[in-house]
Amino acid sequence: MPGAFRYRLAGTGREARTVEDLRRRARRAVPRMVWAYIDGGAEDMRTVAANRLAFDRWCLRQRVLTGHPARDDLRVEIGGDTLELPVILAPTGLTGLTHWRGELAVARGAERAGTRMVLSSAATYSLEELGAGTEADHWFQLYPWRDHDLMGSLMGRAAAAGMRTLFVTVDVPVQGGRELELRHGLATPPVLTPLRVLDAAVRPRWWYGFLRHQRVSLRNLVDEGGAANAVRSVGRQAGLIRADLSWHDIEWMREQWRGALFVKGILEPDDAVRALDAGADGVVVSNHGGRQLDGAMASLDALPGIADAVAGRGQVLFDGGVRRGSDVIKALCLGADAVCIGRPFLYGLAVRGEAGVADVLRILRAEIARTMTLMGVHHVADLDRSWVVPARQSPIPGTEAR
Ligand SMILES: Cc1cc2nc3c(=O)[nH]c(=O)nc-3n(C[C@H](O)[C@H](O)[C@H](O)COP(=O)(O)O)c2cc1C
Repeated sequence: MPGAFRYRLAGTGREARTVEDLRRRARRAVPRMVWAYIDGGAEDMRTVAANRLAFDRWCLRQRVLTGHPARDDLRVEIGGDTLELPVILAPTGLTGLTHWRGELAVARGAERAGTRMVLSSAATYSLEELGAGTEADHWFQLYPWRDHDLMGSLMGRAAAAGMRTLFVTVDVPVQGGRELELRHGLATPPVLTPLRVLDAAVRPRWWYGFLRHQRVSLRNLVDEGGAANAVRSVGRQAGLIRADLSWHDIEWMREQWRGALFVKGILEPDDAVRALDAGADGVVVSNHGGRQLDGAMASLDALPGIADAVAGRGQVLFDGGVRRGSDVIKALCLGADAVCIGRPFLYGLAVRGEAGVADVLRILRAEIARTMTLMGVHHVADLDRSWVVPARQSPIPGTEAR
């Protein structure tokens, strides 16, 4: 193929090479209302921005001529499962809004890459649908609902569906101020204006899937009846979340759940220690992707202190702002055993369903392997704080006097 033609083909941008490529395409693939849900955050989105900026404050070290061959074994053990790469797909609620195949497509995309998805309590596919439609044992995320019977029943269903790892999300005592979502009409019920209907209609692929399959209800709660009966669609789950949750509730969940239990939404070392004291197997350092407390610190800034406090007593997972393989590496160097991603796989899902989720994991896998080879690191387990240095504040030494 002549070089110029090849260049033009590449220039059409059909092949996504980075997560950011997929983000740009995802924005065009879904209506603005859905984009506000996927990509938005709380209030002024300071914490959303802080999550990304925090990665720029660290540089990777580069050792040369190490004699190591390029390496593609990125395996890690988390919660008793072996993952082919240190990237887990975080729980995201209402994923059927992004693409009608929702959480099922995400779980299958994760399987293709040899990793796991965490099914949200607010998922649009049920535990049983996921169990029937997937091969691997995925993980479950539980919100601390008001009702112990409801939590007990959900944990029982998750275990029956073959799930052995539970995330308990503790940073939603109340829903964050998602103003962008409200501005675009994402409420219960959605506020539909002629312009918003038109905005959806000009995306026929999304519109058809949405209208035909209507994956908008919180499927696991709909199946529960009782207290959960009140919850049918977007946003209503807020009324069931307990604001007065305490560490005793984590102890109670620990008694009920036999598999690995991670407390998600930890930003303070003391809280990480309390989670372990309450019986958790690990914590997820997370500010919910900046969707809850706006002004909270960047997850990456919280990570080293928490890793020090945990000191090997449990596993440390991390999420918030990971968009590149080098971000994964920095988090692993600063004490994470693996990272979770949220928005990146939603971008892939919006663009081409299950295949798009697989694209994101393929891109990240290649970036992680390449970055490790360039750094001169041989094993994921070798990544520690000696492989990063704080980025120097300007002025760069030696340039001040010029
Ligand atoms: C659209 C969306 C929905 C989410 N829903 C949930 C949820 O139901 N439960 C939960 O624990 N976290 C939820 N999260 C937070 C993610 O699990 C994760 O903490 C966050 O997305 C990580 O940041 P990142 O998007 O920058 O990767 C959601 C995130 C997004 C983007």
